[in-house]
Amino acid sequence: MDLDTLFKEAEKAALQSYSPYSHFRVGAALLTEDGRIITGTNVENRSFGLTICAERSAVVSAVSSGAKRFVALAISTPDSEIPVGPCGACRQVLSEFMGTDSPVRFGGSSAERINTTIKDLLPFDSLYDLADSMNE
Ligand code: THU
Repeated sequence: MDLDTLFKEAEKAALQSYSPYSHFRVGAALLTEDGRIITGTNVENRSFGLTICAERSAVVSAVSSGAKRFVALAISTPDSEIPVGPCGACRQVLSEFMGTDSPVRFGGSSAERINTTIKDLLPFDSLYDLADSMNE
């Protein structure tokens, strides 16, 4: 599985976006440890604070499908020419289920792509090992 394929899945997921308020579609694609691709899109609400980002939508879908470890992430924002990275809340949630060196690619409608890692998106991550130690 390469990041190009994962990014194409994120692009497809963005087309499912429910974003009648911002008109800003976002698609996210997670590669699970066992080789599945699980996608998510942003789901807005007229009570704006209830909006769910594409990245957290993908995480919730993946965990609901029995996948809890992800090895790569792609994000597509077709309504922006430049790449748009995940919001702060999503960075925190993604780091719960991804290794620090996991690759992340994001891009908009132009050919520009940002290739980064979870660690670069969320440096000095706190309590990184807490879940494992609590589950032991
Ligand atoms: N959005 C995402 O889905 N992911 C992000 O990381 C940034 C923002 C969505 C939320 C809202 O529906 C729209 O993009 C505009 O903020």
